[in-house]
Amino acid sequence: MKKMPHIARNPAEAREFLSLHVRTRSSVGLVPTMGFLHEGHLSLVRRAKEENDICVVSIFVNPLQFAPAEDLAAYPRDMERDLELLSAEDVHLVYSPSPGAMYLPDRSTLITENSLSRCLCGAARPGHFDGVCTVVLKLFSVIAPDRAYFGEKDYQQLQVIKRMARDLDLPVEITGCPIIRERDGLALSSRNIYLGEKERAEALVLSRSLDAAEELVRGGETDVTRILDVVRDVISACPSVALEYAEIRGADDLAPLDIMNKRAVCALAARVGRARLIDNRVLERRD
Ligand code: PAJ
Repeated sequence: MKKMPHIARNPAEAREFLSLHVRTRSSVGLVPTMGFLHEGHLSLVRRAKEENDICVVSIFVNPLQFAPAEDLAAYPRDMERDLELLSAEDVHLVYSPSPGAMYLPDRSTLITENSLSRCLCGAARPGHFDGVCTVVLKLFSVIAPDRAYFGEKDYQQLQVIKRMARDLDLPVEITGCPIIRERDGLALSSRNIYLGEKERAEALVLSRSLDAAEELVRGGETDVTRILDVVRDVISACPSVALEYAEIRGADDLAPLDIMNKRAVCALAARVGRARLIDNRVLERRD
């Protein structure tokens, strides 16, 4: 029988648990999540368990990263199931503060990353990455992890957090982990629950379009416009998938690219029914 993780509902409770359980030389790994956990989240948890003495998972649906018209209220939640899953992984601490314990009504400090967060999802969702950076910095401040784990599924988020940690000299190592997909290619996401059966099938064009891009690059195609034309063609074959953006940018600096002369990322966002889905693929030339 695995032990239920300890649950902390506010910063003081989390700090108290950690002060009792973290010895001088033991390392702490943190996996920040918004809950409704799936195998993608659990892959980060397993990595954090492997690499650290103490594993902390945070579950907090962060209002600050949702725009007023977005799905904050509808965002799926199932704390009981999440705790069962985390107990099976033998997680030590779940940090799950209420919104009131996370944000004071008169809070007036926001963390802004001003470069990598401007394009892609940052352009489509103004203020989103300010909310992400602010909550992640607050989590780092309470948990003081040695390492924190983020999925490449949210590729831009990972790059923004790495930049924030570098710029602010945060004493934490940021580790990116590969995208976990269903067998048919759909990237796991808590938001996949919004998809009806037909929409779920149609959403597959996203990963298929990335397969096509990868195939072209492997075949020697270097013209970004031509690659993106194919990506858009694959997606437009499914008229119920409304593409928000499809872009190819530098894998590290997210700068626009015309020619595939360095490691790049093809990033997509699309609406399928009620769900806004994102996916990406890192593209590398073979030579
Ligand atoms: P959430 O969407 O719950 O994701 C938590 C972490 O799980 C993120 O690092 C995300 O990239 C990773 N993840 C999600 N789906 C994945 C998949 N299919 N494969 C691999 N990793 C996956 O991202 C957030 O929450 C929030 O923005 C957060 C960082 C917690 C700040 O509020």
